[in-house]
Amino acid sequence: MNIIKTASFAFFTLVFFSCKKSNLNNGSGSGTTGGGTTTTTTYNDLWIPPTVSGTTFNLTLGKTTKQFKTGAITNTYSFNGTNFWGPTLIMNKGDNVQLNVTNNLTDQTTTHWHGFHIPANMDGGPHQIIDPGTTWKPSFKVMNNAGTYWYHPHLHEKTYEHLAMGAGGLIIIKDPAEAALALPRTYGVDDIPVVLTSRRFTANNAIDFTSGVYGDVQMTNGTINAQVTLPKQFVRLRILNGEIERGYNIGFSDNRPFYVIGNDGGLLNTPVEVTRVKLMVGERAEIMVDLGKDAINGTLDLKAYNAAQQFGFPGGEPQTGGQFGSLLNNIDFNLLHIKVGAATATPINAVPSALANNVYWTAADATNSRTINITGGQGPNPFTFDNNVYGFTRMDQTIKLNTTEKWTIVNNNIFGHSFHVHDIQFKIISRSSGAVAPYESGWKDTVFVPLGQSVVVVARFDDFANATDPFMYHCHFSNHEDGGMMGQFLVVQ
Ligand code: C2O
Ligand code: CU
Ligand code: CU
Repeated sequence: MNIIKTASFAFFTLVFFSCKKSNLNNGSGSGTTGGGTTTTTTYNDLWIPPTVSGTTFNLTLGKTTKQFKTGAITNTYSFNGTNFWGPTLIMNKGDNVQLNVTNNLTDQTTTHWHGFHIPANMDGGPHQIIDPGTTWKPSFKVMNNAGTYWYHPHLHEKTYEHLAMGAGGLIIIKDPAEAALALPRTYGVDDIPVVLTSRRFTANNAIDFTSGVYGDVQMTNGTINAQVTLPKQFVRLRILNGEIERGYNIGFSDNRPFYVIGNDGGLLNTPVEVTRVKLMVGERAEIMVDLGKDAINGTLDLKAYNAAQQFGFPGGEPQTGGQFGSLLNNIDFNLLHIKVGAATATPINAVPSALANNVYWTAADATNSRTINITGGQGPNPFTFDNNVYGFTRMDQTIKLNTTEKWTIVNNNIFGHSFHVHDIQFKIISRSSGAVAPYESGWKDTVFVPLGQSVVVVARFDDFANATDPFMYHCHFSNHEDGGMMGQFLVVQ
């Protein structure tokens, strides 16, 4: 294991104490708040998680602190002492990797490798419990395509709390096919991790995960009011929605077009030009944006255009407080302030016209079909699938190894949800609304199921038959998941 690169760990909060003091790493600018008033924003340098690469990955989850705000320091959880979140793991497709995950919390926890095609007992779901003071040592072959994946806690009924406290991290998989393309791939320079979440703080600056599901303060890579300087050329952003429940309708402040080049499970066949991308909890989008025509020292913002979303879009609710309200609800707000700097020595100045040769399954390839209904959510009842609250020992679906299946997720019920399946990557075949956006046409492990829609996906279940250890499918809103909106499936011979 070696640490390749550690970005500057500036003491960001200093700027709050001394806004007038000139500080080359920080800058001010005008911003507009949800209320329409113009304010001066003090930006903090975007934290870039350090990377860990090789074939052995040592992770230690522990209690840490981070100076998020003026005044009291905030108690957090993080991996490897990173204060909030964790290092980015860089893996190569085809490698056999060994992970050693030490739990230094006083709670049990688990660590799940989101998006990975691996044996169920290595998956890090609710069954692979890591007791306090012990180390879990999964090992597996990396089989996924180059892309952006992530790891996070998954202990049933504790996922929300452990995530809210900060535990998580990105995983970047590399492979020769991706490496052969002219894409930005210098981590932290023209290839930038962008992890989106928000938190609410108590009056004492503690992370508040009990008074509501939406945060009041946007954090990008755990940085409040994040700013980054990016080179004058095409840059790649690896965006993860790492929220509890909020969705993001992402775009740039000047409405410039950008290109979606990857989904959850790797590169699209061709780039898709857009001005907005909706990214729901658990989903990843790799995008490229052209800064080559910008002036040096020019600025633009990556923003959430979350104002006036339809009901059922998480975070579109109008309330500003309480269980389903927040100061960021139903408004447009900044995710990342971008300053344009000098180009690098070998810039990428174009988007490749072709990216991959994925051959997707169609509905006609499926030899078995299932329907999963989104249920519950009325009054005190939690959201569920098929009227079943999650059962640790109940197997909800049994799938024969080497079959291609069509799953229809039906949501005629109250609110939208982010549906995630472990073990596999699927292809979205259709939405009852008629529109599968081209930008979600690649391999996916998480899909938004809006209120009043059904979504059909096709997946193939290869490789890991196991008659006792289940994989999970669940809503990725961790409050819903903890409430029981999760089912289990076995893949059997
Ligand atoms: Cu991101 Cu079941 O997990
Ligand atoms: Cu997962
Ligand atoms: Cu949900």
